[in-house]
Amino acid sequence: MNSISAYAPGRAELLGNHTDYNEGFVLALAVDRGTTITGQVRNDRMIRLHSRELDKTESISFDHLLAEKVADWSRYTLGVVDQFRRNELPLGGFDAEISGNLPLGAGLSSSASLENATVLFLLKAFGGKLEPLQIAKFSQMAEHDFVGVRCGLLDQIASLMSKAAHTTFIDCRTFQVDHLPLSDKVSVIIANSGVKHALVEGEYNQRREDCEAAARELGVKALRDVSLEQLQSYKSRMSDRIYHRALHIVGENERVQLGATALRQGDLAQFGELMFASHESSQANFENSCPELDQLVAAARRTSGVFGARLSGGGFGGATINLVEQGREDEVVRALQAALPQVKCLVTTAADGALASAVAPSVR
Ligand code: GLA
Repeated sequence: MNSISAYAPGRAELLGNHTDYNEGFVLALAVDRGTTITGQVRNDRMIRLHSRELDKTESISFDHLLAEKVADWSRYTLGVVDQFRRNELPLGGFDAEISGNLPLGAGLSSSASLENATVLFLLKAFGGKLEPLQIAKFSQMAEHDFVGVRCGLLDQIASLMSKAAHTTFIDCRTFQVDHLPLSDKVSVIIANSGVKHALVEGEYNQRREDCEAAARELGVKALRDVSLEQLQSYKSRMSDRIYHRALHIVGENERVQLGATALRQGDLAQFGELMFASHESSQANFENSCPELDQLVAAARRTSGVFGARLSGGGFGGATINLVEQGREDEVVRALQAALPQVKCLVTTAADGALASAVAPSVR
């Protein structure tokens, strides 16, 4: 039988933290690593999945798919299968192996890369058709329904629609995507703190609820619609917590727009300052950082050759992203290791998203 294969990369969030589900702006990129799913169609309704990294197998009929019935690692794939079933896309049983070179839980959204790869695999295997944004939404809904995280679309869109040597600017209201060239004088270092706080999903969903509450109190559809002046004029009528959550989002939206201008002008120093400011806002306003991430960003700030650094992704542990002058990666990695010995650093680059590249890139 024919073997079918699909690949999608991980992503890094360069600027714009928790702005996606607030219908705001984000700058991201796809990394040069990802997840591949390879397999064959079966004649019955069984799904047999194997994870090469975890060496685990899951078998289930797609008529009986329920998140509670399957192991955590398989929920990303089976959540996507469930979306195909609910939306009545062509579907059947299959055997597949998941493999990849993206460290799991390292802040590079191995989850979105697996979800997107699964959507692309199922479309190839059973002949369905989806527009790029629908692919991203299927992946997102898999995460909402099967994993329990009410994420936005940043990870899925960046993993699908990014372009090599560019950053991906996403307007998370219109979902227009623009590609801004990233200077070839920079490298991206992802520094994984190794910290994963318990209840990350709960904290994430709580932040989203806080932002939605702020938008309701301010009488707007989403925090995208609020200016800093409007927010400040409402301050006395809002609880301190809700005000600071909203302040983070409003500030991030502004920083992303300033950042896009800085990138267009090739002003990496200015872009880096915006990254540091983003991290400070995470610490002070959104409270989604942690001591280890703060240590990594503080060390980056002290190290020459670093333009900027900040936490990347949901927060509460995970990774920082560092924008670094090319040729100085080793020095920077050493400085980060001195600050946090358990840190695992990965030097990466802006790569093509899944819709631009049919095959997994070879890793440096
Ligand atoms: C996670 C989510 C994204 C986004 C980021 C924070 O990566 O999956 O949707 O909200 O956190 O910006």
